[in-house]
Amino acid sequence: MAERGIRNMKGVILAGGLATRLRPLTQVTNKHLLPVFNKPMIFYPLEAMQQAGIKEVLLTSSPDHSGHFANLLGSGEEFNLRLYYAIQKNPKGGIADAISFAEEFAKDEKILVILGDNIFKFNLKIIAEKFEKKQKGAMVFGIKINTDSKQYGVIEIEKNGKVISIEEKPETPKSNIAQTGIYMYDNRVFEFIKKIKPSVRGQLEVTDLNNFYLKEGTLECQIIDWWIDAGTSYDELLRANNMVAEKVRNNEL
Ligand code: DAU
Repeated sequence: MAERGIRNMKGVILAGGLATRLRPLTQVTNKHLLPVFNKPMIFYPLEAMQQAGIKEVLLTSSPDHSGHFANLLGSGEEFNLRLYYAIQKNPKGGIADAISFAEEFAKDEKILVILGDNIFKFNLKIIAEKFEKKQKGAMVFGIKINTDSKQYGVIEIEKNGKVISIEEKPETPKSNIAQTGIYMYDNRVFEFIKKIKPSVRGQLEVTDLNNFYLKEGTLECQIIDWWIDAGTSYDELLRANNMVAEKVRNNEL
């Protein structure tokens, strides 16, 4: 009998943005279609959705490149899920803006959001199944990093795991825990997004969204130990290629 998967939660993968930091690699195509070792970058979040047991995924991308994704991924059959596509009108509108395009798709269900350039390995299925049963709230995933955390959202947590603050790219980070690009939300997420104002960089920030849940006391944080944001620079893309190659050779990915 086919596995039923998670029934009350939909997946959203964000693959928009202009990726100007990676030009000329992204001159004629989308960053998430660039290779990371033996696969296009977008395969990793799709496989993570599949492993989490999600059955329907919406992929949002910029107007210029949505056709490239459809050519590569089609209906999503290869990943054992049903794939839908949306175009984010303003490709630099921000992560929360991109999520807002999933409102109709999500209907009244919860959502699992993964940024298209994030690669990671942990048992997301167990956590998603628990989250699916919760009445309300959101979950972020953090990772301890050795480098400067100020290029990320930075999560400050108490010893017992309670989130104290999340700040987007702070000048003076309050911790070395970076907010990754994996998020779970209840269906009120779309109402919260409507209340967000653009940040100084003109975007609807995911950190502002997460702060609605933090203020309400319904935000949880799960710490993970292996994660790469492959899309920030040439060096990070190269590092992602090398790290994934090593994991694949060791049968760990
Ligand atoms: O990677 C983790 C970081 O991602 C977090 O620590 C930050 O809190 C979060 O804001 C985000 O920061 P970045 O500045 O790295 O985000 P970036 O602009 O690189 O976009 C991340 C992904 O989201 C990328 O795969 C493209 C997609 N995206 C981004 C924007 C701004 C969209 O689909 N639409 C957008 O409008």
